[in-house]
Amino acid sequence: MMIDAIEKLKGKTAIVTGGAQGMGFAVADMLADNGIKVVVCDIKGEDAHAAAEKIKAKGNIAHGVKVNVTVEEAVDGMVKETVDRFGSVDILVNNAGILKPTRIDDISKKEWDQVLDVNLNGVFLCSKAVLALMKKNNFGRIVNMSSSAGRSVSTLGGAHYTASKAGVLGLTRAMAKEVSQYGITVNAVCPGLIDTEMVRRDCTPEKIKYYESVFPIPRLGTPQEVAQLVMFLCIDSYITGASIDINGGDLML
Ligand SMILES: NC(=O)c1ccc[n+]([C@@H]2O[C@H](COP(=O)([O-])OP(=O)(O)OC[C@H]3O[C@@H](n4cnc5c(N)ncnc54)[C@H](O)[C@@H]3O)[C@@H](O)[C@H]2O)c1
Repeated sequence: MMIDAIEKLKGKTAIVTGGAQGMGFAVADMLADNGIKVVVCDIKGEDAHAAAEKIKAKGNIAHGVKVNVTVEEAVDGMVKETVDRFGSVDILVNNAGILKPTRIDDISKKEWDQVLDVNLNGVFLCSKAVLALMKKNNFGRIVNMSSSAGRSVSTLGGAHYTASKAGVLGLTRAMAKEVSQYGITVNAVCPGLIDTEMVRRDCTPEKIKYYESVFPIPRLGTPQEVAQLVMFLCIDSYITGASIDINGGDLML
């Protein structure tokens, strides 16, 4: 049954933002492995192209695009480029994000705006850019990368990170309420600590060992485990407006 559901996604087109590395790359790679045409978008243009080449080297279909998700014209351009190349946009994975560990007293207005701009406004702009098309097709899957931070409070990030990820959950629910009648589901994924550069950059190996020792599943999550959940949210289902935890039991709600 699951195999049939995945089979139905073959030939569809997905955009994955922040797809050059980490979870975004794992998602793009897994979607492509399942026959989905993938546009890998990232502010790091060369890395986006390199990621697409890596996917293509396996015989799968991909294309790299440089985009800053905070710039509306650039986002619209990315969607146009996707449609010109692959004919449609069926799946959008809003994964691009940044984390700053700054404590509240030290967060400048500029840094506050930067984090909210990428993590929340970027999700709004990319979603808005694909919704008309998805409505026309009467099919769409939007998966937003929130975080345990959005459900509780961030382990590594500052107040701006937590606020942005909580905002993503509200945006997910509001969009789901408005567009699910058009065959479009909108869901959020809330990972705990996943083994990517974002975590390794802000954590000493000792700190990681400590976290691993206190998690019910005593290790960090892998990008591939998160990718599997995203893949699941792309198949036909009755799930929309949901915030789904994947955190090794670190946060149980
Ligand atoms: N790693 C974790 O433990 C964890 C946990 C919960 C949520 N998340 C979220 O998951 C997502 C992916 O995280 P990751 O750990 O793979 O991070 P990462 O830093 O490895 O990758 C993030 C990618 O987003 C890109 N990006 C940043 N700003 C961008 C912009 N303005 N436009 C386009 N691309 C941009 C980066 O260049 C990078 O390639 C993020 O939204 C992050 O907040 C991560």
